Amino acid sequence: MSKVIRNGTIVTADRTWQADVLVQHGKIVAIGNDLHGDHEIDATGCYVMPGGIDPHTHLEMPFMGTYSSDDFESGTRAAVAGGTTMVVDFCLPAPGQSLLEAITMWDNKSTRATCDYSFHMAITWWDKQVFDEMPLVVEKGITSFKHFMAYKGALMVDDDEMYSSFQRCAELGALPLVHAENGDVVAQLQSKLLEEGNNGPEAHAYSRPPEVEGEATNRAIMIADMAGTPLYVVHTSCEQSHEAIRRARQKGMRVFGEPLIQHLVLDESEYSNPDWDHAARRVMSPPFRNKLHQDSLWAGLQAGSLQCVATDHCAFTTEQKRYGVGDFTKIPNGTGGLEDRMPVLWTYGVNTGRLTMNEFVAVTSTNIAKILNMYPQKGAIVEGADADIVIWDPEATKTISAGNQQSAIDYNVFEGIEVKGLPKTVLSRGEIVVEDGEVKPKPGHGQFVGRKPHMSVNKALSQWKEITAPRKVERSGIPASGV
Ligand code: URP
Ligand code: ZN
Ligand code: ZN
Ligand code: ZN
Repeated sequence: MSKVIRNGTIVTADRTWQADVLVQHGKIVAIGNDLHGDHEIDATGCYVMPGGIDPHTHLEMPFMGTYSSDDFESGTRAAVAGGTTMVVDFCLPAPGQSLLEAITMWDNKSTRATCDYSFHMAITWWDKQVFDEMPLVVEKGITSFKHFMAYKGALMVDDDEMYSSFQRCAELGALPLVHAENGDVVAQLQSKLLEEGNNGPEAHAYSRPPEVEGEATNRAIMIADMAGTPLYVVHTSCEQSHEAIRRARQKGMRVFGEPLIQHLVLDESEYSNPDWDHAARRVMSPPFRNKLHQDSLWAGLQAGSLQCVATDHCAFTTEQKRYGVGDFTKIPNGTGGLEDRMPVLWTYGVNTGRLTMNEFVAVTSTNIAKILNMYPQKGAIVEGADADIVIWDPEATKTISAGNQQSAIDYNVFEGIEVKGLPKTVLSRGEIVVEDGEVKPKPGHGQFVGRKPHMSVNKALSQWKEITAPRKVERSGIPASGV
């Protein structure tokens, strides 16, 4: 059965125009005027855009002695409710665990996803087994490898391990990702704060100043350059980190930066709230920053020095957050945002003039699809693309509230924010998963999206590294060595 989206205005990363979109067998099959199908969806007054892609989620993630509370079922339901039609989650091997075994675990977790998904692989430990398994992971369509420079004693890898893994990524044509915070310095700051009796959630922010992020971002960029690989920096939250990325890009390095919707909109004053629960619910790494950092991130999206907006959706209930009463280092780190990313970014970005509609599509979908090598299957309104489409009503409004959200947790960090601009109807590979604002989840409809290595940016960089590699100078008349 075919579907046609009629009377809407198509908005992509590079164009805005009026046309109908015909969908069949999960794909876009025609774009043009006066198209007809078995089922008509009226998009009068709406924008027809590529569905959002969230490149950074942690659904049912084992972390800090518990599991994040949104799994692939509730997480992808929240995603589509907010106009996001694909998530990229992280396979997280326990230290010593086989990477292939971790893939099997995440395959099992994701069977009830409503929308499509892909995986990054985390490098949480290093030895020959990891080195040998990395190409097998790439063969399975997982072509990006995450490195935590923080969480000492748990997920953190050191520079030696990171350099080895980055070199392996360069050989495989894969893309390394980093969580850039100096984990050694954070651990010392945490101990000092606790010794001084500073044990509340606000101390979480004090223990992770922008300098620890800026330093780690710069270090990862230099290590990636020496290893000859592009680099993707997740949750860029501050000017120090953005500055390192901006400077590297100006020098021709292939570095990407990903601000989160939380860091763009929420600030550090949340941690001073006298209500312990309020502050603890907002504990995430890196922490929320002040307005100067937020302005830097918005400017980066405008200038193109930052490319994607994600959520790092990692939702813990209030009860889970309370594991850290009396010791802020035990508060599970993470916040939600999957349902809110697109409406909040539209409200604070497009409605204020900070972003054009086309830039909005670029940073929520198209750039991500390109950087992760799934464009134009994803992130595009073109014939042959997957019919992951959001019909966006720019006049629709709502007040964000935990009371009517899809997420399984009992609060929302954006509670009370008024948004204008919401998905009206959402298609996931041609299936209607939101209709006239009402979520119609289809658990199990979502499929794994495999990706290929050796993207054009990897090829270009390895070609340049080959041309500029150190070469022995061949000399004819070598003098006898001196006595
Ligand atoms: O606090 C955060 N960001 N939790 C999720 C894990 C991570 O560091 O991305
Ligand atoms: Zn007609
Ligand atoms: Zn992280
Ligand atoms: Zn994360």
